[in-house]
Amino acid sequence: MIKTIGVIGAGVMGAGIAAQAANAGLAVVLLDIVPGAAAQAIATMGRAEPAAFMHSRAARLITPGDLGADIGKLAVCDWIIEAIVERPDAKRALYAQLQTVRKPGSIVSSNTSTIPLATLTDGLGADFAADFLISHFFNPPRYMRLLELVAGPATRSDAIAAVRACCDVQLGKTVIDCRDTPGFIANRIGSLWAGMAVRHAIDLGLTVEEADAVMGRPLGIPRTGIFGLMDLVGIDLGPHVAKSLLASLPADDAYCRLYREEPLVARMIAEGRIGRKGKGGFYSRAADKSRLSIDLVTGEYRQQQEARLASLQTRKPADLADHPDIGGRYARAVLLDTLGYAASLVPEIAGDIASVDAAMRLGYNWKYGPFELIDRLGAGWLARALAADGRAVPALLAQVGDRPFYRVEAGTLQAFGVDGSYQNVARPDGVLLLDDIKRAGKPMARNAGASIWDIGDGVACLEFHTKMNALDQDVLGMVGRAVGMGAKGAFKALVIYNDGEQFSVGANIGIALFAANIAAWGEIEGAIAAGQQAMLALRNAPFPVVGAPAGMALGGGCEVLLHCAAVVASAETYMGLVEVGVGLVPGWGGCATMLARWSAAPKLPRGPMPAMSKAFEMISTAQVSKSAAEARDLLLLRDSDGISMNRDRLLADAKARALAMVADYAPPPSAKLRLPGPTGATALRMAVDGFVAMGRATAYDAVVGGELAIVLSGGDTDHTVEIDEDDVRGLERAAFMALLKKPGTLARVEHMLETGRPLRN
Ligand code: NAI
Repeated sequence: MIKTIGVIGAGVMGAGIAAQAANAGLAVVLLDIVPGAAAQAIATMGRAEPAAFMHSRAARLITPGDLGADIGKLAVCDWIIEAIVERPDAKRALYAQLQTVRKPGSIVSSNTSTIPLATLTDGLGADFAADFLISHFFNPPRYMRLLELVAGPATRSDAIAAVRACCDVQLGKTVIDCRDTPGFIANRIGSLWAGMAVRHAIDLGLTVEEADAVMGRPLGIPRTGIFGLMDLVGIDLGPHVAKSLLASLPADDAYCRLYREEPLVARMIAEGRIGRKGKGGFYSRAADKSRLSIDLVTGEYRQQQEARLASLQTRKPADLADHPDIGGRYARAVLLDTLGYAASLVPEIAGDIASVDAAMRLGYNWKYGPFELIDRLGAGWLARALAADGRAVPALLAQVGDRPFYRVEAGTLQAFGVDGSYQNVARPDGVLLLDDIKRAGKPMARNAGASIWDIGDGVACLEFHTKMNALDQDVLGMVGRAVGMGAKGAFKALVIYNDGEQFSVGANIGIALFAANIAAWGEIEGAIAAGQQAMLALRNAPFPVVGAPAGMALGGGCEVLLHCAAVVASAETYMGLVEVGVGLVPGWGGCATMLARWSAAPKLPRGPMPAMSKAFEMISTAQVSKSAAEARDLLLLRDSDGISMNRDRLLADAKARALAMVADYAPPPSAKLRLPGPTGATALRMAVDGFVAMGRATAYDAVVGGELAIVLSGGDTDHTVEIDEDDVRGLERAAFMALLKKPGTLARVEHMLETGRPLRN
């Protein structure tokens, strides 16, 4: 097993890879040829946005050094990753040096984007070739889930297995096997797509706004489309990749045939207009901060304008590509080039279409890979459109005919293979996807907001499926139903999980606002009490309930997790009790649970004040963890809760955890609390007043903080009395109701619903 990693080259990629390895808890040696550069890179990453480190502690796992003086430090490394300048001679010279220091059995890999493996190992001997492979990370390495792996004919199979396991389980990547061809999968297809998306936009006379509107969401591509994406990654990056692809691909490759240097792009690079990291790019800001964009004909900036095309009203990629207006023709032209190219590259670049789709989804954040997109258009449609355009129809496309590339057979997803037959899409061991389970059968129970699925071995999965997985009466109803079913023996453990990007953004506040506007106070109070009961039912269930969040788990979504017997969280989990942002307090046991957790925290000084203050600090500032590791600091996760680095392993990890808890399971006892009462509330209110005086809190923050102070200080009590968590739940309900009747809270709720941002009133 790989425990110590060496990274050489502390640039954009090397530093990011080192950070992710440290996030995984691995020991890292980071070296650079420039003295001091590695140490500097660690410091820079500590300030990076989005954050490179999941926790400030991770930085301490990296030992920086200078290649010249410290190369000997690599002797302890199980795996050495090279991420230096993209030049074969420089890389080979470094490998020759490594041969003198690295330990027997250690593995060396390159992060090269474009250089063939055979070129990299040339002249270095059989021993080196056996230990060498290419591991291609995407930028930024913490957040991009794709890892392209290329092994040579001489690479040891145990070295491949070790790197695969480390990248998958520890670094959390989806490992895709690629053939040793230029640009591997994602950049090969992605570069052609980008080139054609620019070229056709210019030739057809679209504005940048129109091109991005068409090339983005309607096709399941991020809303940055093409020009926004180039601004984001740097306009100067494209020509580097293009140069390398042009040099290494045969002249009759479609990439070389279709490539065209764009004078506008060359001019922008020459003028330093390389995107967000430079003096603006296709989009920019005027001196008065108004939004500008480039006129693709003149190359001059003008005021940004909204894209208004009839084709943007279409709902499906097929309708867009068939639309007669300029947007439709643009989509069609780019799709024909890109999808035709992708179809022509299997099996040259990868053994199967599922790998190509996964690479584009994860490397370029596309919702659908090329073959999934082809299925949405129809493989037959694409073949006929290519033929009508006088172009060659790729063999694979001709072979599949009018059938889809993917089909579901006996509940299992299958993909069309190069041998002309459909094969099951295999998942690595330990990867369980709810999508696969859904294909195979019907839910055990379902309503509009949530479903219960049988995930095997006597474990059920409660899935939310409202918009952003907001919690409403349907979801709460299904929570109650799940507990009832489990109590009757329908399953022996429950996992709360969904495949969505966000676990849950919290209670549906639109409903609360509606009820408040018609003064349906009784209904609202009933709903809060029902929510508290649902959470308590989860906590007191006679079987283990394991929460398995990824992405945002906010407000009520966070409270669901606080009531689970255990949590296994994706490393990328952003948790917080954010109710004050909408002028409310956590009302479903969040306050009670945080008081209980902080009261039992071993490192906190004794007495009633510290626990109350800690809970107040995080709830009154709506603090959200930027990772699962940070959620542990806030006690939103317990030390006993698990963290999974790989999103695709989360459900299986949570299920295993649930099964391990089944024997002798007993729900946790309700905590007894000693809280300071009114003296504590006064102290908290004075603190908030201080923040208001300093301008760090608003007038209405003080009102909300005042109600929160009553709840967290325990109401009418004092530290000599032991109270129950349930007493705090009563205070939560009262504070919630009091706040919901205030105009300041209603203004916050309305603002949040309209803009998605908190109102600072
Ligand atoms: P970079 O220019 O940001 O960093 C390269 C670092 O390597 C610099 O700190 C430099 O001082 C150091 N260096 C150069 N020669 C060295 C040597 N002989 N020994 C030790 N250190 C040396 O480059 P970046 O972008 O991090 O790229 C590194 C590698 O990763 C390249 O092979 C590149 O093709 C590949 N790559 C880059 C991606 C990106 O988005 N930037 C994405 C995926 C791969």
